[in-house]
Amino acid sequence: MSNTLLVTGIGELTVNNPQAVDNSPGAESTPEPYADAAFIVERGSEGEDGRIVWFGPAPRAPAADERLDVLGRAVIPGFVDSHAHLVFAGDRAAEFSARMTGTPYSAGGIRTTVAATRAADNEQLRANVRRLVEEMARQGTTTVECKTGYGLTLDDELRALRIAKAECDAATFLGAHVVPAEYADRRAEYVDLVRGPMLDACAEYADFVDVFCERGAYDEAETRLILDAAKDRGIPVRLHANQLGHGPGVQLAVEYDAASADHCTYLTEKDVEALAGSETVATLLPGVEFSTRSPYPDARALLDAGASVAIATDCNPGSCYTSSMPFCLALAVREMHMSPGEALRAATLGGAAALRRDDVGHLAVGARADFTVLDAPSFLHLAYRPGVPLVHSVWKNGDRVA
Ligand code: NIG
Ligand code: FE
Repeated sequence: MSNTLLVTGIGELTVNNPQAVDNSPGAESTPEPYADAAFIVERGSEGEDGRIVWFGPAPRAPAADERLDVLGRAVIPGFVDSHAHLVFAGDRAAEFSARMTGTPYSAGGIRTTVAATRAADNEQLRANVRRLVEEMARQGTTTVECKTGYGLTLDDELRALRIAKAECDAATFLGAHVVPAEYADRRAEYVDLVRGPMLDACAEYADFVDVFCERGAYDEAETRLILDAAKDRGIPVRLHANQLGHGPGVQLAVEYDAASADHCTYLTEKDVEALAGSETVATLLPGVEFSTRSPYPDARALLDAGASVAIATDCNPGSCYTSSMPFCLALAVREMHMSPGEALRAATLGGAAALRRDDVGHLAVGARADFTVLDAPSFLHLAYRPGVPLVHSVWKNGDRVA
């Protein structure tokens, strides 16, 4: 038996209706928040998704079985965090501290976490993912992507991917994060392991395949081999691209029709053009630039050229250990010159596009009932009041999760 829930008393509702958003290059791309709005969630019987079945002006709301009055608070679609690395053990606070006093970030730090992750048992790893997913939910996130990449043996990558698949909304195989120390002198053998036996074992659980295409990680030829192997198996790809310097990552992402090119910190005009002319989402991770004290990506160039942009946390123990989408959104506005509306859209609809999902990131009819109630009259407060815990309550699939 299904039942319906009327959410009313909404001070400002951001629907992000994908049909109503202007996607043309240069468009303002600001969501159209409604005042005195309401919406209705239909919760299916056991196992079925809770969906939005109506939204509109509160006085015209049809009757429903139950009613939730949010007392003038703003409601937004739940955040879609489309880039995170949650299957790990240990922390690297000392590395962060050294960085803040001048040691530059490098891809090599990943190996510290690899050692701790290999030494951890499945229950420790699972508990870590759950802890972080719950932490994300308390900050308004309702969809979480999670990568492997701290195992780097067949067994360790497989167990990480199975945990990611079970605990998160999208699981990405990142066996090509760095080359593990034991393969330092035989890189080609490790690439063959990733694109052969590892991918064979992991394919069943992988929603995406990712490669860290960067100096210090994988070069263009190696990245191509792994992307080809993913494509051969029909698994969509995404890339860590152009994080630490200019390079081939973004162009490869576009060539391979990647769902997203992530980081995009160092882009040429050609890279921006390529992204703008493609379906590949540019996923910006400003928490990384904050936590590694690096220059921020040129979000304006991407938006003004008409590229699709997402914002995500990149939550991981090395380059950025935040789980907070509101923090990243505030950085996007303050440091990357995105308007608050553009930033909210990138943190919701943009993330959904990066995961190739059309049922999350918005609250139009048919969307999953994933929404966040803010202790604020408007979503503008997310950037206006940085660091303030403004999330009042969070609903996923029509059920309260925080
Ligand atoms: O997205 N760039 C590669 N991977 C992570 C960092 C992982 C780490 O430092 O442990 C990132 O920044
Ligand atoms: Fe990452």
